[in-house]
Amino acid sequence: MKNFLKNVRNREEDAISISVSVEVEEELLPSAAGAYLDLEKHYKQIMLFYESGIRQLTAKLEILNKEFQLCNDRNPIENVKSRIKTKESILRKMEKQGLPLTFDNMMNYIHDVAGIRVICPFITDVYQIARLLISQPDVELVKSKDYIREPKENGYRSLHLIVMVEVHFSDRKRKVPVEIQLRTIAMNFWASTEHQLRYKKERDFSEEIHRQLKECADIMAQADQRMQKLAENLEVSDAQDLVW
Ligand code: GTP
Ligand code: MG
Repeated sequence: MKNFLKNVRNREEDAISISVSVEVEEELLPSAAGAYLDLEKHYKQIMLFYESGIRQLTAKLEILNKEFQLCNDRNPIENVKSRIKTKESILRKMEKQGLPLTFDNMMNYIHDVAGIRVICPFITDVYQIARLLISQPDVELVKSKDYIREPKENGYRSLHLIVMVEVHFSDRKRKVPVEIQLRTIAMNFWASTEHQLRYKKERDFSEEIHRQLKECADIMAQADQRMQKLAENLEVSDAQDLVW
């Protein structure tokens, strides 16, 4: 398999040196430029797959939310955000994993090129939305990590799913991997603020900061449990939905 992504980068460098060097043979230029444009086009095509996967899933989420609103007079989804990983970030992750930089490897091993984050009011909403989504025939669950049932050691909570969603184009259909993170508003408050603290300067936390962050995560989890109880008592959500 050709080293496509490496080529993308090398070609970028080639393209720069070609434009400044007078020693480049004239006929090399069109073919080098042509190959670069081909690679770029291929990359854009693949990114269109991912973008379409995101669109497909966000439409499904929107429909579920509207249907639920109609039947139950409330929204189980507070907010949906999506993003496509940048080329730089994909390359960095592949290099870190020691993967040869090919399009095949990117599609087979980097499952979070397309990402969706779904924020729900209650824990039961998280599981219910996840279940309804993966029960659709064109959405296939590949992997799930339940960091709500088993929080990360630092206190991080979320339900992570990797799904394959079918996308139709003019002459073909494809299954595209998308990472979906589902969490409550309280879990999102913690994850977003912890991310700001950690990633701004990519620092390691001291034991004490680690302890305090974990404590905050536990406070958020307690608040979620109490809100959940209130919702059950007021018959806003059903405890049976606390099953994944
Ligand atoms: P990645 O290489 O980051 O994709 O890790 P992974 O494949 O082991 O997946 P994991 O399920 O651990 O986490 C993937 C994503 O979840 C991250 O990119 C973050 O968006 C989120 N996440 C995981 N752990 C934390 C955490 O401790 N804090 C915050 N703020 N986000 C986290
Ligand atoms: Mg990731």
